[in-house]
Amino acid sequence: MHYLVTGGAGYIGSHLVLALVAAEHQVTVLDDFSTGHRWATEGHEVIEVDIRDLAALRSALSQRHFDGVFHFAAKSLVGESGQKPLLYYQNNVTGTANLMEVALENGWGHCVFSSTAAVYGNPQAAAIAEDHPLNPVNVYGDTKLAMERLLSAVHQQGAMHAVCLRYFNAAGAAPLAHRGEWHEPETHLIPNILRRAGGEDRPLTIFGDDYDTPDGTCIRDYIHVLDLADAHLKAMAMLHRQGGFHTLNLGSEKGYSVREILSACEQAVGAPISHDIGPRRPGDPPRLVADASQAEQVLQWRTTRNLQAIVESAWLWEQQRQVLL
Ligand code: UFG
Repeated sequence: MHYLVTGGAGYIGSHLVLALVAAEHQVTVLDDFSTGHRWATEGHEVIEVDIRDLAALRSALSQRHFDGVFHFAAKSLVGESGQKPLLYYQNNVTGTANLMEVALENGWGHCVFSSTAAVYGNPQAAAIAEDHPLNPVNVYGDTKLAMERLLSAVHQQGAMHAVCLRYFNAAGAAPLAHRGEWHEPETHLIPNILRRAGGEDRPLTIFGDDYDTPDGTCIRDYIHVLDLADAHLKAMAMLHRQGGFHTLNLGSEKGYSVREILSACEQAVGAPISHDIGPRRPGDPPRLVADASQAEQVLQWRTTRNLQAIVESAWLWEQQRQVLL
């Protein structure tokens, strides 16, 4: 099969490309390199285009055949989304509409879409299933929900089968293949901890230790990026078998607090990591943990890499990244 991976130069997209190649698929990456990395696309066909530009997208992709598209290209910073809402709507929602336009014109009928637990907003249950109310609390989540609804509407027209995968906290790396997480600015917990541990001159702050959780810090469900990649492959295979429109949570169903993550990182690093305690970060719910039972049933998928594998791979990658700097 030959697949198009939009955002294939980014963190999760570049790990999916690895998994597709390992499964002997042909891959074309589409990216505007606004946040993705050129080194992550070496050896692959690359189309450099901004998905907001329909004319450019059309001219780059017309007459091309793909057996499906994995759609990652999106802006994904919660804080930035509030400051630049138009950028988020244009890039995420208009960009997805443009991509669907070109997909339908060229007869590509299968799409696996990178969605997020941010579509749920403040959790009303200890474990969040797909039927949890959809109430995003930031512009990023609003745009991802709009993208899901756009795909659902396009599916109802009859020419597109789609799966929306709602990730919880993607983490970890594939250091043996020289892939890992590298955002500038970095906002995520595990890379922030490990960049501090690796000697970067940057403060590490725990955002609030007065939450109503056992140790007072926020609980999240961390999922290894290679487990995510496996789920994408299974989702695409399922679409080819049975079609339809599906939304599925991807998580480990295990919750870890910020302090537990810090101590797992200290174990991987083999030394204490200096940090301070700061105020709560606005918009952080105390606990977000997936009920991923539907993904298990529909895709015969579950996570196989635990927290130790996540932080150890992320630490190996951080040491490689320091050399690339
Ligand atoms: N945290 C810190 N210090 C840091 C960074 C994070 O204490 O330097 C805390 C946060 O306050 C939060 C937890 O660590 O409690 C995890 O924070 P991340 O930024 O790593 O991840 P989020 O849970 O905020 O965000 C993730 C995805 C988003 C998605 C969201 C869905 O990265 O894309 O889940 O709710 F929108």
